[in-house]
Amino acid sequence: MCGIVGYIGPKEAYPVLIKGLKRLEYRGYDSAGVAVLQNENIVVYKCQGKVANLENLVAKSEPLIGTIGIGHTRWATHGPPNDENAHPHSSEDGNMVIIHNGIIENYSPLREELIKRGHHFKSETDTEVLIHLIGDIRQNEDVTLFEAVRIALNEVIGAYAIVVMEKDNPNQLIAAKKGSPLVVGIGEGEFYIASDATPIIEYTKNVVYLDDEEIAIIDREDGFKLMNIKNQEKTPYVQELEMKLEALEKGGYEHFMLKEIYEQPRSIRDSMRGRLRPNSDQVELGGIRDYIKKFVNAKRIIILGCGTSWHAGLVGEYLFEDIARIPVEVEYASEFRYRNPVIYEDDVVIAISQSGETADTLAAIELAKSKGATIIGICNVIGSSIPRATHAGSYTHAGPEIGVASTKAFTAQVTVLTLMALHVAHQKGSITNQRLHRLLIELDSIPDKVQKVLDQNEKIKYIAEIYKDVHNALYLGRGYNFPVALEGALKLKEISYIHAEGYPAAEMKHGPIALIDEEMPCFVIAPRAGAYDKIVSNIQEVKARKGKIIAIVTEGEKLIKEMADHTIEIPDTEECLMPLISVIPLQLLSYHIAVMRGCNVDQPRNLAKSVTVE
Ligand code: AGP
Repeated sequence: MCGIVGYIGPKEAYPVLIKGLKRLEYRGYDSAGVAVLQNENIVVYKCQGKVANLENLVAKSEPLIGTIGIGHTRWATHGPPNDENAHPHSSEDGNMVIIHNGIIENYSPLREELIKRGHHFKSETDTEVLIHLIGDIRQNEDVTLFEAVRIALNEVIGAYAIVVMEKDNPNQLIAAKKGSPLVVGIGEGEFYIASDATPIIEYTKNVVYLDDEEIAIIDREDGFKLMNIKNQEKTPYVQELEMKLEALEKGGYEHFMLKEIYEQPRSIRDSMRGRLRPNSDQVELGGIRDYIKKFVNAKRIIILGCGTSWHAGLVGEYLFEDIARIPVEVEYASEFRYRNPVIYEDDVVIAISQSGETADTLAAIELAKSKGATIIGICNVIGSSIPRATHAGSYTHAGPEIGVASTKAFTAQVTVLTLMALHVAHQKGSITNQRLHRLLIELDSIPDKVQKVLDQNEKIKYIAEIYKDVHNALYLGRGYNFPVALEGALKLKEISYIHAEGYPAAEMKHGPIALIDEEMPCFVIAPRAGAYDKIVSNIQEVKARKGKIIAIVTEGEKLIKEMADHTIEIPDTEECLMPLISVIPLQLLSYHIAVMRGCNVDQPRNLAKSVTVE
């Protein structure tokens, strides 16, 4: 969704804003804009397209001078990506400007009411309605800027992270949050506001993550004051950021996605650090220690997520049922939220999210929590909303994931799910000591095995070259590799815009096989572990219809090598650990195909890294 940034302090605001927007651009890149208070006037620059477009626009004009300002990069919800709908938006009298991430659901009736009161709107956005409402209250009621914002927010329905700046208030910014993320960085006599910590880390490690319905009054002289929309004062909880600045750089790679694919031996290792004790056949998961009994006694586990996190959840289903012998249901959070699902108090709900800000998953968590279920989170962003909404959980420690297409977060999520399933199984006694020992030793070897697959990058690139111009693709897998087939298809779809579908290989005969002809590449995950003979038959069914087979096989595989058009060999491992290895070639294939098609791999069209609106 959108990225918002603000600054007030002794420094020139514009350079801080533009740098911050570049850090946040993975959140949305349809248009961008800034507003700076310069010589008692608010100067606004905004335009369609990337932050670079905005930079060019500003560079062609007078230098932007001022030590207070706000900036925005947009993922369009209301109104197409164009200059008018770009943020910041101004009040009727132009004395105030706002930037917003979220959706004002009741903007239409508010807009009509304001038009009756003489307001004129320049854009189609919900956001412009909010600043006109704040301006209207400020003009017609004898209230402070903070009060005008507070009163207006009590009239709106929906999600918001906003920053408001006013001409007549050169020493103050007002920031507020509900649903969408907002963090304030506290520096020496200066303050930074942003959708996440990535624009702040290079200036200060001291941050405050706002909670829902909180409003921050950020004043150059009086400092930082936290209130809520009920006008009660709150005590800010200042946290120290652990993130490192270099983690936000490409580190010499052409794209963040490629860097993050290559980081997986380390990110998987970091997700196991201090948790996997292969020599003592132990798994330590301090984050869920107080809830292990809930798991052991659970009659059912519900796993919630969206996109790639949902695919990780599907692998989790196979793991918990196979190893811990607990029935699992994996739910698209958005469907679960409105399906009036049956939720019991003794249900354990695992909510998976890389960003920790996905609105659908957050809303599903709130629903399950309201029914008394125990909510366990698996998340990658410390301080984000989902960890704060759950009872307990485990961070994935994959490090910041900037590329919109999730890669290292997927393998880190599957690693944590594997540790959780093994831990619960051990506590429950549903796994033999021999199997536990074997799996822990094998899990410990996964990072090296992933590296062996990465070392085949050139071969994978060669295969990508052959299939870069296809229009459709099918991904097939069985058992633990069915979710990997879905994940492989999603990666190709979201970064190369090729239509692709993942299927349980046996499901082909029930319809999709009709799609097969010499133009249809089928990426088949066919390791020796699991239903090998069955997948060989599925490959023969595709070959019989002249389909192209690109098979992911176990090192030393012979039979499939004779049948397939191309094979990519991966190290052998336990069936239940195979998704951690078999997904890697599919990530690299989609990456190279997208690069060869000239696609923007890190910022694919129409997508955003964290989806903060329902
Ligand atoms: C995956 O590559 C996509 N970026 C998207 O499907 C993502 O997995 C989904 O939006 C869920 O995000 P989350 O893990 O941050 O909740």
